[in-house]
Amino acid sequence: MRRKLVIGNWKMNGNRAANSALLSGVVAGLNADGAARADCAVCVPAPYLAQCQAELQGTAVAWGGQDLSVHASGAYTGEVAASMLVDFASRYVLCGHSERRAYHNESSELVAQKALAALAAGLTPVICVGETLEQREAGTTESVICGQLQAALDVIPAAELTKVVLAYEPVWAIGTGKTATPQIAQDAHRFLRARLEQKNPEAAAGVQILYGGSMKPENAKELMAQPDIDGGLIGGAALKAADFLGIIHAV
Ligand code: 13P
Repeated sequence: MRRKLVIGNWKMNGNRAANSALLSGVVAGLNADGAARADCAVCVPAPYLAQCQAELQGTAVAWGGQDLSVHASGAYTGEVAASMLVDFASRYVLCGHSERRAYHNESSELVAQKALAALAAGLTPVICVGETLEQREAGTTESVICGQLQAALDVIPAAELTKVVLAYEPVWAIGTGKTATPQIAQDAHRFLRARLEQKNPEAAAGVQILYGGSMKPENAKELMAQPDIDGGLIGGAALKAADFLGIIHAV
């Protein structure tokens, strides 16, 4: 039985005061029941990792980054190394969010290298895949997400697959209020798991595949009730403690 996992992706939002209010609200609301039902984490802008470490250590909420460099260290201005995320006790790091793919031209091959760098540092990479509206309408959803995933499967050793989290985030559902129907999401998740099975059947059964794209307390329950949807990667709703908790309690 896979445990549910709910991760908040703050994107480029927050400040010290607002973060503190949000984190304390989430921690306070995660009573024994909420904490027992799902694993929970926030992926925050790198400058706030220290704040997360200070305010979340010892709580049921883990934390992590939103991106990382493929390089270990050196002359790469503006980049954040896996070891730096680890230095602040991060557990997760997003790899290949669609906003990185779109605005920073990240290829699936680069994303795969980032996932490898994360694994090598002991972090859990959350590898994000998803099609645009154009691609869905052209009927290429499966080939697009298959290609995005395959690049990672080509380089990650089969035995390491158990240490990976996948996120299916249809680009047309991100920040638009247009959530994928539970069936559309389930179909994509099932498809992704079948690809994982080809690489390592035993590991595939245990890999958490999160849905992301306008997930809210009102639609979380139905989405997460699908057999291959193991949680959520939450954008907008992760910025309000009540909404984020509402999603966790929907598990
Ligand atoms: P929204 O929940 O705001 O649609 O964002 C989803 C997302 O991109 C999470 O990574």
